[in-house]
Amino acid sequence: MAAPLEIEAVISAGARLAGGQHLVTMVVPEIARAASPGQFAMVRCAEGWDPYLRRALPFLRLEEESISFLFAEDDPALVWLARRPLGERVSVVGPLGRGFDLQPATRRLLLATQTGPVAPLLGLAARALASDLCVSIVLEAAAARNLAAIVPGAVEVIPAPAAGFWEVVAEHLTWADQTAIAASMEDLPRWSGLQTLRPGQVECFVAKRLACGLGWCGSCLADTHRGPRRVCTAGPVFDLRELIG
Ligand code: FES
Repeated sequence: MAAPLEIEAVISAGARLAGGQHLVTMVVPEIARAASPGQFAMVRCAEGWDPYLRRALPFLRLEEESISFLFAEDDPALVWLARRPLGERVSVVGPLGRGFDLQPATRRLLLATQTGPVAPLLGLAARALASDLCVSIVLEAAAARNLAAIVPGAVEVIPAPAAGFWEVVAEHLTWADQTAIAASMEDLPRWSGLQTLRPGQVECFVAKRLACGLGWCGSCLADTHRGPRRVCTAGPVFDLRELIG
């Protein structure tokens, strides 16, 4: 895993999407080339020290020279980030954490999120499409509409109702070689019926507020079968079998 770097990234694009989501792209080749889908960066979202804490953002796109983030403007710090003009510099630390492990034998990849961030899953989709894999994503219908501008056309979108969402995902698990989901710890009990998962069959990006993102503060512990583990360093991507049951 590459050592994290602290770099002044240059804002190169920004766009507001349907549903209140914001897309920001920054030129920072050193991080773009070192990062993998599922990892994240800690982004300073202020000119000074208020707010003091950086914001943890998973990568949406990883290009040769640039990185992109997708976030809701539900936090004054992220509103500040969304308002940065093109050309402005923002301090970014990354890449951080453990990303997805796209296995060599995988040909059909299933993605799903209901309440977790879609950005790390779309980052994985881009990486999988570049390797000619078949990719499908399960989304609620409203989310699918809001994300239509950024979900690659080659990705099959499977709409699911809010109630019974995870049952739809479970039906599709049977044909997928590998599945990646994004969920909060509170969502995970929905998966506890899946006791027969094989190792690596389902990986989960755990959505959790990260204060330092560097393993220092201990505020991001998740209960796993290996004991409490820091989401920012042991994750944010875990084998789902570590988290449920
Ligand atoms: S966020 Fe500080 S240890 Fe994980």
